[in-house]
Amino acid sequence: MVAIEVERLRKHFDPPKGPVAVADVSFQIEEGEIFSLLGPNGAGKTTTISILSCLLRPDSGEARVGGFSVTKESEKVKALIGVVPQDIALYDDMTGRENLLFWGRMYGMSGPTLSKRVDEVLELIGLGDRQKDRLGKYSGGMKRRVNIGAALLHNPRFLYLDEPTVGIDPQSRRSILDKVKDLNAAGVTILYTTHYMEEAQEISHRIGIMDKGALIALGAQDELVRLVGERTRIDLTLDKDADILVGRWRDLPGVSSISHPEDGRLFLSTDDANTLMPRLFESARAAGARITEISLAEPNLEMVFLHLTGRALRD
Ligand SMILES: Nc1ncnc2c1ncn2[C@@H]1O[C@H](COP(=O)(O)OP(=O)(O)OP(=O)(O)O)[C@@H](O)[C@H]1O
Ligand SMILES: [Mg+2]
Repeated sequence: MVAIEVERLRKHFDPPKGPVAVADVSFQIEEGEIFSLLGPNGAGKTTTISILSCLLRPDSGEARVGGFSVTKESEKVKALIGVVPQDIALYDDMTGRENLLFWGRMYGMSGPTLSKRVDEVLELIGLGDRQKDRLGKYSGGMKRRVNIGAALLHNPRFLYLDEPTVGIDPQSRRSILDKVKDLNAAGVTILYTTHYMEEAQEISHRIGIMDKGALIALGAQDELVRLVGERTRIDLTLDKDADILVGRWRDLPGVSSISHPEDGRLFLSTDDANTLMPRLFESARAAGARITEISLAEPNLEMVFLHLTGRALRD
């Protein structure tokens, strides 16, 4: 059953000179799915979420959430969705509990029903023991969890999370990803945005890759990876900075693409790994560098993005 239906959404900010933040984007999310929008800064992820949250009107196109139009039936849509915004919307001088009570009242909840639900949500986000502390004393990861809790108070059928793991420690990130999977297992349909390929790969049933306002690919991870063709990915690590080698290797025969996501690490895609690998070792030695780790793997979403755009997913 289709839960969220997006049809040719378009949003042009400050025309004619401003950016086309969302350009004719269409996709459908099935009930029970975790659907991720993956894309770099400025891809249009937040703009899409804002339209689906009835916070922003599209210039054209339409979206339906649970069968209701986001432009014509926004009250009905709002009752069905929980939104975890990219920027934390909480008060530092109130306690964690008070912040949740505040948000609950915004959703029209009150009295013992609200109080009981706040207890449940505090339990769910694992902050029951910190509920009486001022939010200002919480870590970034804990604030993120309260932000998520606020979106869950009214038991939404659909949950949108806009880059909920940016700027937090690995442990909090882990706990948020697990929570998202738990909520989904309990029946919540999830729309998740991220620019971390690993997150999209781990949690999503399907992924839409966005770039410059457009949805450039859509599918399950294995379908997306097939776009790269019958290629192998070579992951390697060098003992020193690889910038010179990246330039040289790009032109080697058999190299389809190369990306340089993190210090010393490189991903290459090739249709002939066996011929290419000895050449990489030789060329590294000639440049006075050493390959300290090398492995072969299926192409990943980073490769897919590179294949489709010619650019690396990470800035
Ligand atoms: N209120 C606004 N007014 C003008 N331009 C905007 C506004 N909001 C977003 N934009 C522009 O629209 C484009 C898409 O922005 P959006 O925030 O949707 O991207 P994003 O994919 O969420 O990026 P990020 O990963 O950085 O959060 C960008 O060029 C951005 O500068
Ligand atoms: Mg954003």
